[in-house]
Amino acid sequence: MFPFFIVLLFSFSWSVSAHNHEDFVQCLSHYSNSSSISQLIYTQANSSYSSVLNFSIQNPRFSSPSTPKPLVIITPLQLSHVQAAINCSRQHGMQVRVRSGGHDFEGLSYVSDVPFIVIDLIEMRSINVDLETSTAWVEAGATIGEVYYRIAEKTRTLGFPAGACPTVGVGGHISGGGDGPLHRKYGLAADNVIDAHIVDVQGRFLDRESMGEDLFWAIRGGGGASFGVVLAWKIQLLPVPSTVTVFTLNKNLEQNATKLIHRWQYVADKLDEDLFIMIILQTVNSSSEGGSSKITIQASFQSLFLGGVDRLIPLMENSFPELGLTREDCLEMSWIESTLYLAGFPSEEESLGVLLNRTFSGALLSSKAKSDYVRKPIPEAAFEGIWEKMYEEEVGRAILIFIPYGARMADISESETPFPHRAGNIYKILHSIYWEKEQSSVESQRHISWMRELYAYFTPYVSKNPRAAYLNYRDLDIGVNRNNITSYTQSSIWGIKYFKNNFNRLVHVKTRADPTNFFRNEQSIPPLSSSVKKTGN
Ligand SMILES: Cc1cc2nc3c(=O)[nH]c(=O)nc-3n(C[C@H](O)[C@H](O)[C@H](O)COP(=O)(O)OP(=O)(O)OC[C@H]3O[C@@H](n4cnc5c(N)ncnc54)[C@H](O)[C@@H]3O)c2cc1C
Ligand SMILES: *[C@@H]1O[C@H](CO)[C@@H](O)[C@H](O)[C@H]1NC(C)=O
Ligand SMILES: *[C@@H]1O[C@H](CO)[C@@H](O)[C@H](O)[C@H]1NC(C)=O
Ligand SMILES: *[C@@H]1O[C@H](CO)[C@@H](O)[C@H](O)[C@H]1NC(C)=O
Ligand SMILES: *[C@@H]1O[C@H](CO)[C@@H](O)[C@H](O)[C@H]1NC(C)=O
Ligand SMILES: *[C@@H]1O[C@H](CO)[C@@H](O)[C@H](O)[C@H]1NC(C)=O
Ligand SMILES: *[C@@H]1O[C@H](CO)[C@@H](O)[C@H](O)[C@H]1NC(C)=O
Ligand SMILES: *[C@@H]1O[C@H](CO)[C@@H](O)[C@H](O)[C@H]1NC(C)=O
Ligand SMILES: *[C@@H]1O[C@H](CO)[C@@H](O)[C@H](O)[C@H]1NC(C)=O
Repeated sequence: MFPFFIVLLFSFSWSVSAHNHEDFVQCLSHYSNSSSISQLIYTQANSSYSSVLNFSIQNPRFSSPSTPKPLVIITPLQLSHVQAAINCSRQHGMQVRVRSGGHDFEGLSYVSDVPFIVIDLIEMRSINVDLETSTAWVEAGATIGEVYYRIAEKTRTLGFPAGACPTVGVGGHISGGGDGPLHRKYGLAADNVIDAHIVDVQGRFLDRESMGEDLFWAIRGGGGASFGVVLAWKIQLLPVPSTVTVFTLNKNLEQNATKLIHRWQYVADKLDEDLFIMIILQTVNSSSEGGSSKITIQASFQSLFLGGVDRLIPLMENSFPELGLTREDCLEMSWIESTLYLAGFPSEEESLGVLLNRTFSGALLSSKAKSDYVRKPIPEAAFEGIWEKMYEEEVGRAILIFIPYGARMADISESETPFPHRAGNIYKILHSIYWEKEQSSVESQRHISWMRELYAYFTPYVSKNPRAAYLNYRDLDIGVNRNNITSYTQSSIWGIKYFKNNFNRLVHVKTRADPTNFFRNEQSIPPLSSSVKKTGN
């Protein structure tokens, strides 16, 4: 019933704003004396509108005919285009969505329940690596795969701690935190940002110095979308050894997977900082001796070790002998090859080019995801209930990923950045379910309901007060701002889950940076004054 209501509201206000968007387009051409800006503006009258919109939709759940579409998409090439887009949006009461890689789990970078435009940063993706200072300037539209590739072009002994999926955009990823295989050693992507360029609500260009430390703090984990348009990050590159080791050990339930997962919880966050072992859980067909196949749960213990196999084997014998890792299970390679390996590509030098490919193969499936943090080991018996749930028939393709924290992640204080999930967290869970995009909305709802039931099952075993969540695994189930107002009380429900005590500081920064709440969405930080703030229409 709720989505239906939104659609009605939306189509009503669409006509109201029809002339706003014409004025907006007029305004853009007026502001910019470069004739080329019209080449960067797409309305539904342009034949390429739909391919530009679709290109960075990474979840087809938000690509149906009933999904609200932007009135205008602008693909800026430079600062002045972004400034013009902001100045004109404000002048004509247009709601703005900013998109970098388009991976938002709830589509917030390209969907809105009020008339809106999209600033799509796909053309602003230059990367400038400076070996002398071990830093790089990275424009927001770049993907993390592009960042890894450009670093490796210059050196094989520097890397950057960010996520495992190469098509994720740095605009959303870094402003939401950004964890990955190197975070036990170096922390989040956001922990390694040393400067940033943004455009604020007044259309001003700001760097770290001119935006001030509060705003610079907020955009490194608090989400960029509440504060402005991030144009670029200056990131600190970090040493990686010339040889790293990877392995993937698959254990199904018949191979004592449950015991191993249970045991993993006691070691995962305490392992050497050079060692990262995550678990990917999914249902698979296991073929037994007679050739007959049977459904079971498979746990893949997948690892990155920052060193050679000679150092890894004794480490594993000491800390996690139950896994039974042998040399034969391990592969030595360069760090850049390991980024391919962990993303599921062939890990060869010849394949490095796939890091530049912005097409995400997973975008063929619809999905719904949620997050959890685990602070004390889940009892072995409780896993049996999870397996039961995963066997349920209507489940599309369910994947649970357990991502270990600890080491550097636990050394950084909860208030250092808005991302608060530090000491005390053993691991994070990514709950996800995928299904064919052609399925009906009734079937889609069934998958989403299944995900919510699984999440309910986990309640006794995960973090409480708050039941913490990860901003980059956006989940509108945990609470939303109402469609036309943003209130502190409402926002604090989801805000405390994502940010704990940092939520209040984010509200204060927001109040100073964007007092009229121009930059807003279903889960944007509210300014204090706008407990009842009307939309731009
Ligand atoms: C396959 C897959 C794998 C993932 N793996 C990881 C992982 O390993 N670790 C991890 O931490 N996360 C991971 N994520 C989550 C990912 O980090 C977030 O979805 C992230 O926000 C995506 O950034 P984006 O630029 O691609 O998304 P977008 O959808 O473009 O943006 C996400 C949000 O950020 C805002 N935003 C985007 N660009 C800007 C900008 N330039 N200025 C201001 N606001 C902006 C958007 O408006 C939106 O609210 C994964 C997601 C997917 C789909
Ligand atoms: C606009 O014109 C001025 C003066 O001719 C020029 O310096 C500037 O670069 C132009 N801006 C754009 C975006 O083309
Ligand atoms: C979209 O159409 C308008 C009007 O015909 C045109 O001016 C503009 O250049 C087109 N945009 C693109 C990107 O081609
Ligand atoms: C964009 O996606 C929609 C929904 O899947 C589809 O109907 C449309 O044809 C696509 N447009 C292009 C140009 O591929
Ligand atoms: C937008 O407004 C800001 C000041 O508020 C100004 O500095 C900037 O030049 C304007 N830019 C454009 C392109 O409109
Ligand atoms: C499972 O564990 C039991 C006891 O801990 C052990 O005897 C058995 O060999 C293990 N099975 C496999 C397949 O490793
Ligand atoms: C297992 O195999 C059956 C029959 O081949 C197939 O229908 C089913 O989708 C498979 N399940 C998984 C989880 O791979
Ligand atoms: C990019 O990746 C997509 C999805 O994996 C694939 O279909 C496509 O062929 C790739 N493109 C190139 C140029 O390799
Ligand atoms: C918000 O929307 C609701 C329902 O449409 C309406 O009753 C309420 O008056 C609106 N509030 C504001 C502040 O516009």
